[in-house]
This record gives sequence, structure tokens and C-alpha cells, in this order.
Amino acid sequence: MYPLFFRLVFRHMDPEKAHHLAFGWIRALASVPGARALAGAVLAPRRPGLATTAFGLTMPGPFGLAAGFDKNARAIDGLSLLGFDHVEVGTVTGQAQPGNPPKRLFRLLADRALVNRMGFNNDGSAAVAAGLHDRTRRRWRRDVVVGVNIGKTKAVPEAEAAADYVLSTQRLAGLADYLVVNVSSPNTPGLRNLQAVEHLRPLLAAVREAADRTVTDRRVPLLVKIAPDLADADVDAVADLAVELGLDGIIATNTTISREGLATDAATVEAAGAGGLSGEPLKARSLEVLRRLYARVGDRITLVGVGGVTTAEDAWERILAGATLVQGYSAFIYQGPFWMRRVHRGLARLLADSPYATVADAVGAENRKATA
Ligand SMILES: Cc1cc2nc3c(=O)[nH]c(=O)nc-3n(C[C@H](O)[C@H](O)[C@H](O)COP(=O)(O)O)c2cc1C
Repeated sequence: MYPLFFRLVFRHMDPEKAHHLAFGWIRALASVPGARALAGAVLAPRRPGLATTAFGLTMPGPFGLAAGFDKNARAIDGLSLLGFDHVEVGTVTGQAQPGNPPKRLFRLLADRALVNRMGFNNDGSAAVAAGLHDRTRRRWRRDVVVGVNIGKTKAVPEAEAAADYVLSTQRLAGLADYLVVNVSSPNTPGLRNLQAVEHLRPLLAAVREAADRTVTDRRVPLLVKIAPDLADADVDAVADLAVELGLDGIIATNTTISREGLATDAATVEAAGAGGLSGEPLKARSLEVLRRLYARVGDRITLVGVGGVTTAEDAWERILAGATLVQGYSAFIYQGPFWMRRVHRGLARLLADSPYATVADAVGAENRKATA
């Protein structure tokens, strides 16, 4: 049904308008008691075999929603009702900012891809923290793992980036099940320079220290999210740094600035302009980065695989390649509200047909086989 709806309605709408419309429905889902009971049962039935633990957090399955869909943490419960096993909100910046001028989100239909140059449009970490705090007091809310992804305010100079991340950490760490330092979006000038180890080391150390100072009753897991456009040597350098700093996880990957190998005609690609490309064309490179990371860090650091994941088979491939958690965004736009149900059903089948008893047993199995 959704593919037909997409073809007849969403496809003819401006992508950002379609996003706002769908976002409103997802929020509404969680506010109507009958609807949420039905949605939870139909779209998110629990499959006990898929239960997953990552950095000390238990989740009903390995598949979550990647950052960027719910930038201000307003639809967590509705998204959980659609079956996401965790929801990563943000990117949230120290100060509220409008992002880039529209139009800034484009579909490349032939590639099942998106191009975005949103530019971290968000309400800022103070407002997002207030919203998350309100949620903790709400009478009805889903028990779902919430990651908070933080980034740099555009107006803050690169040299002062750490202070901006620290400000957001102080406001948000206590409300986050895990925290992600995003240094990989292509739409904030200079942001990706922070991936260089000499910048990344002090930044991550400052965020770690701020999280520990702010939250004293538990250790908030800290992850870093990297770009697929890093050279292999730089991927290795980030992996080594993550081990050195005792980071909890690496998310691979964000969107790419590459436009290679697209099926979409050149004029449409050109018209979309600059920004990050996501969806199916990203799949091969994201998987390659994940494999490289796993070969380097093994089980010492939790890996999160994201980029071009559409089917249960794609998710399973990431798990075998070393991902404990898998995320997706673009496929949600193309596949609609039954997407997670299909992925979960497929994953349960793939696990049952595999030699592994649990998802955890399958993590990195491909690498172990290759080196056996
Ligand atoms: C419209 C849009 C906005 C995004 N915004 C963010 C963001 O704010 N922070 C972030 O870390 N990633 C952001 N992403 C990247 C996704 O989280 C994800 O890493 C990327 O899209 C690859 O996954 P996919 O191919 O499943 O979409 C965004 C992606 C899209 C399509």
C-alpha cells in the first residue's frame, strides 16, 4: 500500500513538506491510545530472538533510526511504535539555528537515494533538553533506547568547536542513553576537519570529561560518527584513537559527497546540488568502512553500521561484517511504516537459518571466518 501512496502522493510533494506531514502522523500515533496499541501490536511485535545488548544497553533488536529524522527529539514514542529498536535524535547543536535555506532535500528516485543539505536545522540543545525532560515526566511513553547526536553550531568558529559540543553535552548527557559526537556531516563548513586525529582527540576527551562531570550515577556511552569519504588510512586512525580513548562505539557512516555510479540522470543530480548523498548508492562504501573498522578494532569497540541499508539481508550483512547495531534513514522514506516489521521478520528468519544462536554470535562472523 505504501509504495502506491508514495507514487501517488509523496512523490509529487516537496520532500521536506512530505517529511513534515509524515512526522506529524508519527507523533499523532503515540498520542492516541487505541492507535498506539494497534500500531505497537501490528508494526512492532517483539521477536525475543533478536534482543540485543550494546554498550550495556538492552534493546529488543539491533535496528534503529539514524540521526536526522527527528532532529528535535519530538517523535521518539511514535518512531518506537513503528518498530525501531532505538532512536537516535539530532543532530543537536549548542545554539538553535535555521539550517540552510530551502530547497535543501531532494530525491533521486532511480537510485532510491536522497541528497540533503539541511545544515543542522534544530532548536538547539537547551530546547531539546527541555523537551526530553518533559518526555520523562509524560504519563505514557515507550521504553526505547534514545541516542542523542550532537554537532557544532554553524556560527561557532572551528577553533571553539569543543566548547559548543561541551555545552550540548552538559545539557543533554543526563537525558541520553548514549551520546554521539557527529563530525561527519558535509553541510556545516569545516565540520569534517574535526575528524583529523589532532582535532578529534581533544574534542572527544572534552566531551567525555563533560559527560562524566554532568552524569555521576552512570557512565554515558560515547560514540563518534564518521564520514564514508575518509581515506582508508584516516578510518584506521580514527579506529586507533577510539581504542586509545576508550570510546564505546563508532557509527559508520554518514552521507557522502560523492556522486559516482548513480543511475539518476546527470541533470537531476546537478539540479539537486551540493549536500550529502544517502540511500542505496552509499551501501558499498559504508559496508567497506565497517569491514575496515572491524578488522582494526574487532570486539573492543561497538560498531554501528549505517548507509544504504534497505532489506533484512542488508542488515544481516552489516552484522556479519561486525556491526552490533544497524541503522537506516533513507529506506524509511521509500519503504514506509511497515519497513521495520519486514526487516525484523527477515532478520529473525536469517538468524534461524544461520548457525548462530543469537544476533550477538553473528556479529563479525564473516571476519572470523576469513581469518580462521
Ligand atoms: C535528510 C537527512 C538528514 C540527516 N541529518 C543528519 C544529522 O542531522 N546528523 C547525522 O549524524 N546524520 C544525519 N543524516 C545521515 C543519516 O543519519 C545516515 O547516516 C545516512 O543517511 C546514511 O544512512 P541511509 O543511507 O540509511 O540514509 C541525515 C540524512 C538525511 C537523509
